[in-house]
Amino acid sequence: MERLDKYLASRGYGSRKDVQRLIKSGAVSVDGETCKSCETKIDTDSAQVTVNGQAVTGEEFVYIMMNKPSGYVSATEDKLDKTVLELVPPELRRRGLFPAGRLDKDTEGLLIITNDGDFAHRMLSPKKHVYKKYVAQLDGEITDETVRRFEEGIVFSDGTRCLPAKLEHRTKNDKNVGVVTICEGKFHQIKRMFAVCGLKVVHLQRISIGNLYLDGNLPIGGCKSLSNLQIKQVFIGNIH
Ligand code: URA
Repeated sequence: MERLDKYLASRGYGSRKDVQRLIKSGAVSVDGETCKSCETKIDTDSAQVTVNGQAVTGEEFVYIMMNKPSGYVSATEDKLDKTVLELVPPELRRRGLFPAGRLDKDTEGLLIITNDGDFAHRMLSPKKHVYKKYVAQLDGEITDETVRRFEEGIVFSDGTRCLPAKLEHRTKNDKNVGVVTICEGKFHQIKRMFAVCGLKVVHLQRISIGNLYLDGNLPIGGCKSLSNLQIKQVFIGNIH
């Protein structure tokens, strides 16, 4: 059972205030009867809700894969910068969406945008061991010593200790590009981990979250809805 105003807000009919106005105007009916009470509890599985005579359909939660471009901040609004929400199709924007986790303004790649707070929490909590993979282009070579230090757990200059991380060369020949796997999201984590080892990240891209990989056909700045299987893939195979 869910309050009518909450139900409509979660299905894209505007903010809680917008939908309360809509309900009070008499535009909403439940099981054939006009309903002007925002607190009315409805059975979301069986109630027939209409707005201006049109049936309300659609899932409660939205999950979007974005190929984040550089130059956009991972926020819902910002006074100075363009936000990733500006890249989401307008018809989905009113559904309380937010980026599940942050990529830096200059980082590209896989970002999930959703309105499911519980999903975001599970994905981001280091305790859930959801591994995120990044490709980092560096200004110097990754040595065996760098790999070893990542494996041991990098310690930042302020004493913050990172969990052990996996670092591999992307190809045998290119020692300046590393693939890093981590399951936490400290501020500027990858850049700071390499900085401790004397390397500067010149380009960073996230390529996967759990078993969900960035769709190679998704253009930079593009968005697509995730299937139920893809949503599950975030939590599958999450111990590397
Ligand atoms: N680590 C970083 O340094 N930046 C990101 O955007 C993500 C992980």
